[in-house]
Amino acid sequence: MLIRRPTDILPSEITSPELYRDRRRFLAQSTALALAAALPAGLARAAGQSLGPLAKSPYSIGETPTPYKAVTTYNNFYELGTDKADPAENTHRLKPAPWTLRVEGLVNKPRTFSIEELLKLAPLEERIYRMRCVEGWSMVIPWVGFPLASLLKLVEPQGSAKYVEFVSHYDRSTMTRGVLEWPYNEGLRLDEARHPLTLLAVGLYGEVLPVQNGAPIRLVVPWKYGFKGAKSLVTLRLTEKQPITAWMKAGPSEYGFYSNVNPEVDHPRWSQATERRIGEFSKRKTLMFNGYADQVASMYTGMDLRRFF
Ligand code: MTE
Repeated sequence: MLIRRPTDILPSEITSPELYRDRRRFLAQSTALALAAALPAGLARAAGQSLGPLAKSPYSIGETPTPYKAVTTYNNFYELGTDKADPAENTHRLKPAPWTLRVEGLVNKPRTFSIEELLKLAPLEERIYRMRCVEGWSMVIPWVGFPLASLLKLVEPQGSAKYVEFVSHYDRSTMTRGVLEWPYNEGLRLDEARHPLTLLAVGLYGEVLPVQNGAPIRLVVPWKYGFKGAKSLVTLRLTEKQPITAWMKAGPSEYGFYSNVNPEVDHPRWSQATERRIGEFSKRKTLMFNGYADQVASMYTGMDLRRFF
């Protein structure tokens, strides 16, 4: 039985009383921890297992996290189904362990990392981020992860590298066919990828990332629309040319490479000026760069954000 000292308790757990109310879930977590101690590395990690204690981050916002239930049952993960409820119901279609992440392309030290190696790469932090989906809804999610910059430093990007492409896992035998061109891929400019807000997430709410949220490792870029956050990553590729992303291929006039949250640039079929925070009744005004303008706006100085949408 795990007894936690008050200093081990995360702020997210305090702001989410449901974690404590749900006794069954707490017991399941304790059992998972006991199992983890008994299993070899790689087999041990399962959704619901605690990742704490975690370093707190100055990049966290002071807003109340969206309830765990909504974060883990209202998802976009088209490989596991196109309805919001599908990913949580189809978690058996993706096995998050064992898993490797390959970093290749224009780097001096290309390398394949196991999840265990990635977890040791930098101290895990809790980052409470505001997340905005291009569809017009938003959440506040207490992610657990480490800056992508610490991984990029290890592989030593070459001078000619200008972009990072992110490629998700795809298994045609178990996952959705059609809808998008698979595998799902995304991209960032190298300075965006190195920005301290850009996170590789391995958990949320202090626990191992559930499959429906992109287990075992996914990208989180809080000033961009949620679709930038490619889930269940298997490859990071450093390139000289701007990658063409899955959404750019699907709708080039609707989804651009930058995808910065911008209330002044509408999606061709709907306004982006407001959003519905999941769990709230009235709409909120969408903030420039999703409220992260002070930290990120300087990366886009002189760019026409209507053209580079
Ligand atoms: N990654 C993959 N591989 N497949 C997807 O369909 N959907 C994206 C993004 N990453 C998606 C993906 C979209 S549209 C959003 S809004 C976010 O994941 C949702 O992340 P969440 O379900 O963890 O909130």
